[in-house]
Amino acid sequence: MTVLWILLGIIAFFVAFSLSWRWASRVWSLPCPWVTAWRFDNPLLRRLTRATLDRLQLRPGQRILEIGPGPGRLLIQAAQRVLPGGEAVGIDIQPGMIERLKVRADRAGVTNLKAILGDTTQPHVPEASFDLVFLCTSLGEIPDRAAALGQCHRALKPAGMLSITEIIGDPHYQSRSVVQRLAQAAGFRFQSMQGRSWFYTDSFVKP
Ligand SMILES: C[S@@+](CC[C@H](N)C(=O)[O-])C[C@H]1O[C@@H](n2cnc3c(N)ncnc32)[C@H](O)[C@@H]1O
Repeated sequence: MTVLWILLGIIAFFVAFSLSWRWASRVWSLPCPWVTAWRFDNPLLRRLTRATLDRLQLRPGQRILEIGPGPGRLLIQAAQRVLPGGEAVGIDIQPGMIERLKVRADRAGVTNLKAILGDTTQPHVPEASFDLVFLCTSLGEIPDRAAALGQCHRALKPAGMLSITEIIGDPHYQSRSVVQRLAQAAGFRFQSMQGRSWFYTDSFVKP
């Protein structure tokens, strides 16, 4: 019986912690700390990583941008998929994540990847310079989501694609309706949805 109460207490603590973090992230920038970056590359996530990359339908020669790449779980492989001729760029707000991304890209022998340290609500890349901008479990960590999507719009070429992936269980999970509302308010046209609510990718086009 005592064990059950301890278990319930631990679960209640994590739920309360996640909800508070989620709520506070609407006001302050509280990204998941870079010291927990190892979480993103575990064998359990590998299937989701492959599925997310397949949904992006990457092609050689594309210029792609990931907002909040963390240690590069997706971006490093995405950079390989746009070869030959393509280039991948990642913008992350945490120096620790950017350092880790650079080290891991070097180790993988990936040379067509550029890592930029910065807040994605500010302009960091030339206007209309990317074919695809994508986010995976990053949008909810950004207090000003509208400004972030505005910068995605600015960075994309006309007819460029915005892809947003969300995975349930992430404390900053964004529902499909919220993502669609924010993307449309930023000037995007809804294009397609893949997956189910617990792990979905919605695509939008810059008209
Ligand atoms: C949950 S991690 C996701 C990492 C990666 N997209 C993945 O799926 O493995 C969210 C990332 O977004 C970054 N981030 C949060 N707020 C940001 C902002 N305002 N500008 C740029 N990056 C941000 C965090 O530093 C973190 O690396």
